[in-house]
Amino acid sequence: MEYHAVRWDDEEDMLVLLDQRELPSGVEHILCRDVECVARAIEDLAVRGAPAIGIAAAFGLVLGSGGKESELSHAARRLISTRPTAVNLFWAIGRMLERALAVPEGVDLKKELLEEAKGILEEDIAANRTMGILGQALLPEKCSVLSHCNAGALATGGFGTALGVIRAARERGKEVKVFLDETRPILQGARLSSWELAEDGFDVTVICDSMAGALMRERKIDAVIVGADRIASNGDVANKIGTYSLAVLAKEHWVPFYVAAPWSTFDTSLASGEDIIIEERSGEEVRLLPGGKRIPDRIKVWNPAFDVTPAALVTAIISEKGIFRAPYDLKDMGENDPEGQDVII
Ligand code: MRU
Repeated sequence: MEYHAVRWDDEEDMLVLLDQRELPSGVEHILCRDVECVARAIEDLAVRGAPAIGIAAAFGLVLGSGGKESELSHAARRLISTRPTAVNLFWAIGRMLERALAVPEGVDLKKELLEEAKGILEEDIAANRTMGILGQALLPEKCSVLSHCNAGALATGGFGTALGVIRAARERGKEVKVFLDETRPILQGARLSSWELAEDGFDVTVICDSMAGALMRERKIDAVIVGADRIASNGDVANKIGTYSLAVLAKEHWVPFYVAAPWSTFDTSLASGEDIIIEERSGEEVRLLPGGKRIPDRIKVWNPAFDVTPAALVTAIISEKGIFRAPYDLKDMGENDPEGQDVII
């Protein structure tokens, strides 16, 4: 089945988002003709995953460009307010606004922005393919890999980052079994990664998050591979809550812990992960239990959407620019200044 998390429809002049809240039971789409629709889809996790959020926001600016400069600035502010952790969002908006500034008077702004957004989408797929080729070399010919959350085609322009490496390994004839953490509370592993890998015919096993340690102790995992939402210059990695626990377990059991992410996920303006803003989401996500049951309001819940894994626990970071290993000094790899948009809006 052919699916795209984010797709631009030229004929209808609209953005088509696969509604990931409905997966795996239903395949439904959200048709966005204005920036508010895109912003809500990002906030509500209809579209999610760091690169996909950035791409959706880029197209959101196309929809919000409306002719006047003030409208574009308003659209950018709205999109920036949706989610704080994935740097791809800020990077993509910064890049779109820079393009807007460079458009000469009399030239169609919306057309130029559409070209830029399509470029961001295509480059993301290309980066994932390159990461796949580089990263698959780290995996043995026959292996079992554990992943967390969804860092696949659904989280990106296509192919995926962590799941892209797994796909590339199979394309090269490697035999890869995949274990997936269900990833409480939103279940991106159980609902999304399992769906897209099963669509591709992978041997997939879903486990509860609390089972990863037992699996490693039984020597059933050869590598852990995850995506990222923001990577600081020193190699600290923000990713879905639970990633840090996995990295600690991997170290204890001598299992390599790999992170795969495009350069748009690196934030070289940050010295370390301490400065990464961690999104805290509604407690309802934790309160809701299977079977429609609910943790009562008198009981407190805590719901950070991400955690930071210290660089010391990361065996290697796979990007389209190459594979990095400790000591990480990613600043030297080139500038990626997500704060650029501050100057413009
Ligand atoms: O809250 P989400 O579903 O947007 O979180 C997504 C993740 O944490 C992914 O692992 C990360 O964005 C990498 S996607 C290639």
